[in-house]
Amino acid sequence: MTSQHSVRFLPQDRVIRCAEHCSVLEAARLAGVNLPHSCRSGHCGSCRALLRQGEVLIPAGQQPGLSAQEKAEGYVLLCQARPHSDITVEISAVASRAPVEIKNLPCRVTGLSRLAPDVMQVMLRLPAVEPLEFRAGQYVDVLLEEGRRRSFSIASRCGQTQELELHVRRVAGGLFGERLFRTLAAGSLLRIEGPRGRFTYDEAAAGPPVLFIAGGTGFAPIKSMLMQALAQGGARALHLYWGARTVQDVYQEGWVHEQMQQYPRLTFNAVLSQGGDVAPPYRTGWVHEAVLADFKDLSGLPVYAAGPPQMIEAIRGSFGARGANAAQLHFDVFDYAVDPAPREA
Ligand SMILES: Cc1cc2nc3c(=O)[nH]c(=O)nc-3n(C[C@H](O)[C@H](O)[C@H](O)COP(=O)(O)OP(=O)(O)OC[C@H]3O[C@@H](n4cnc5c(N)ncnc54)[C@H](O)[C@@H]3O)c2cc1C
Ligand code: FES
Repeated sequence: MTSQHSVRFLPQDRVIRCAEHCSVLEAARLAGVNLPHSCRSGHCGSCRALLRQGEVLIPAGQQPGLSAQEKAEGYVLLCQARPHSDITVEISAVASRAPVEIKNLPCRVTGLSRLAPDVMQVMLRLPAVEPLEFRAGQYVDVLLEEGRRRSFSIASRCGQTQELELHVRRVAGGLFGERLFRTLAAGSLLRIEGPRGRFTYDEAAAGPPVLFIAGGTGFAPIKSMLMQALAQGGARALHLYWGARTVQDVYQEGWVHEQMQQYPRLTFNAVLSQGGDVAPPYRTGWVHEAVLADFKDLSGLPVYAAGPPQMIEAIRGSFGARGANAAQLHFDVFDYAVDPAPREA
């Protein structure tokens, strides 16, 4: 028989049961407790909590989303931690604003357009009576059969909306991506849950320059953030770096140039990892290296980066040495989904 333990959440003082094979985050979700999280793979750090009492196991052995200091202080990642005894965890009170309501909604695909050979723009219309309110940078889960879900960031302007724009990259053999590229069409119905995620834009209109770094479809949440930052007004400099494989993967470059014409405080660098001998303004190499080449001192600069785990790890590993403050590094890791084991589903 599977052993179960109690998990007490502070400061709410809410108690749930969690089986030893189940992550605390997953058990909380099944019990209807919405905890902050994003990647569910141990990379982004959104689900960190202070272990006040008891013991947990980390089956993968590693928690890359925690700094050495956080580990020493007793923080754990709830998407990785399995209880090994009854435990008490304190959820870090990072959210500065009231949480937005997470909804489970049917929606209709109203448009599909190829942005790049393996990237589809998906427009979703929500029910007229159920608009969704979200913050720039958040994502929704597309709900699939047998408890499977796939996360996609919202590329639309934040606020209350009835239409969502997503940018979905096709990965070979991917359950949802293949379905999207092969069989879904305008008019198809999907079910989504959201908004989710703590990767949100929280800067004032005035202040030091802000760095936005997108890797591939990591441009989706960055686009939403840029819309918010530009609409805020003021003279704050905004620097966008978009890392992609080839020119055609910088799929909404035209939109970026339109914004730059309207808002000269926005600058843009496209950095191609498979650029070959492309001419300027394109740069070649890794996107984080382009940022490091341009900014010798990153102290005081907020950084918002979204994209594949390798890009986020490279930024995490190199920006600190140039003075970047850990509290000002905001990450959204586009990890692939881990499907629930049958007994969890
Ligand atoms: C918070 C968050 C936001 C995200 N936002 C976006 C977004 O806006 N646009 C977007 O395109 N993706 C985004 N992703 C990534 C996306 O959710 C996953 O890539 C998703 O699993 C793809 O679903 P699928 O069913 O097509 O492929 P799956 O069935 O999940 O994948 C099949 C196999 O393909 C490989 N694979 C899948 N995805 C990746 C990947 N990203 N990197 C490397 N290998 C992979 C794995 O081997 C996997 O087992 C986001 C992820 C997170 C956590
Ligand atoms: S580290 Fe747990 S949700 Fe990202």
